[in-house]
Amino acid sequence: MVSFWHTLPRPFFALAPMEAVTDVVFRHVIARAAAPDVSFSEFTNATGWVHAGDRATGGRLIKTEDEHPIVAQLWGSEPDAIRALAIHCRELGYDGIDLNMGCPDKSAIRAGGGAHMIRTPDLAYECITAARFSGLPISVKTRLGYTSIDEWPSWLGGLLAQDIAALTVHLRTKKEMSKVPAHHELIGDIKQLRDQIAPHTLLIANGDIDNRAHGVQLAEQYSIDGIMIGRGVFRNPFAFRNISRTADTSDLSLEPPPASTPSGVASDSIATVRAAADPSREHLFDLLNYHLDLYDQYGPQLHRPYETLKRFYKIYINGFEGAAALRDRLMHTTCTAEVRSILQDTRQPERLVTTSAMKVSNF
Ligand SMILES: Cc1cc2nc3c(=O)[nH]c(=O)nc-3n(C[C@H](O)[C@H](O)[C@H](O)COP(=O)(O)O)c2cc1C
Repeated sequence: MVSFWHTLPRPFFALAPMEAVTDVVFRHVIARAAAPDVSFSEFTNATGWVHAGDRATGGRLIKTEDEHPIVAQLWGSEPDAIRALAIHCRELGYDGIDLNMGCPDKSAIRAGGGAHMIRTPDLAYECITAARFSGLPISVKTRLGYTSIDEWPSWLGGLLAQDIAALTVHLRTKKEMSKVPAHHELIGDIKQLRDQIAPHTLLIANGDIDNRAHGVQLAEQYSIDGIMIGRGVFRNPFAFRNISRTADTSDLSLEPPPASTPSGVASDSIATVRAAADPSREHLFDLLNYHLDLYDQYGPQLHRPYETLKRFYKIYINGFEGAAALRDRLMHTTCTAEVRSILQDTRQPERLVTTSAMKVSNF
């Protein structure tokens, strides 16, 4: 089946599905900072949706019409429920369905979903078949194995034999959770297996990949199709920005804008390069204000209390003088208006060119 997956650049960059993080609000924030080539929704339980409908999904599947390509990630262990929710996701305008077969969370495991699928491969294949009824391309996101790394050839080999559009491998076992470094050293062997079994299935590496530059390096080293980044955006929301580090200097450069680019856009590019390399406080404040606006807009549909917003503040209030004290003040706020007012008070005359930004602009 020809789908959006085949139109993505190589390597392409995906925003990882992250529960209570990659909702419609945060996806828009990341798209404004530096857009990935494809985004994933946070995961949604198929059985819950079948029994309780939209009340069970709590806004997880909200998307805007302009979000493309976007993949809905589902989890569950009941093929009929997966089929029903996958069909619903198509109606909602999603471009693809991803099945979560790697979540180590106890509740997912108990329900036979997430990483438990690694122990029930036949059921995993049934779920893939069920999701195909949506008519959308099906991808799978999983781990190397349940308890041992040695499980990967048979588990990933079995999945690759299912003729899926893409396979994302979080390069750890379920048992390893996120406690050990991701096994980047296995990417080459997994790629070989993919080439043997399903050369048309796109292979996406995930785990401890900080940003685009790091991803490009791995993709080139192992000739894989895509890179998925999750927590990298917590460290730098501009993680997907296209920056390359030159070999003989430590300066950072952006691919030059096309010749036809109007000069206004070119200078904007330079500003975003600065933001990506070393985001200034002003860039981060602007993004946080955008996040607050979107939270206010979608809050009633997402049913997420104000307290849940606070976990995001350290993304923006970080890496500049006085950040810790400011973060502490924001942790004591009770609404978005209070945060806006504190940010307004804190803003000083803009220092547009920081020391590291000077390095970039001198390039
Ligand atoms: C807060 C959080 C929520 C997550 N939720 C999901 C999820 O809903 N579905 C999923 O497949 N993986 C989920 N993950 C795992 C990530 O998608 C990713 O596989 C993992 O963080 C490793 O990649 P990274 O090192 O780039 O973060 C979550 C991770 C985090 C930190």
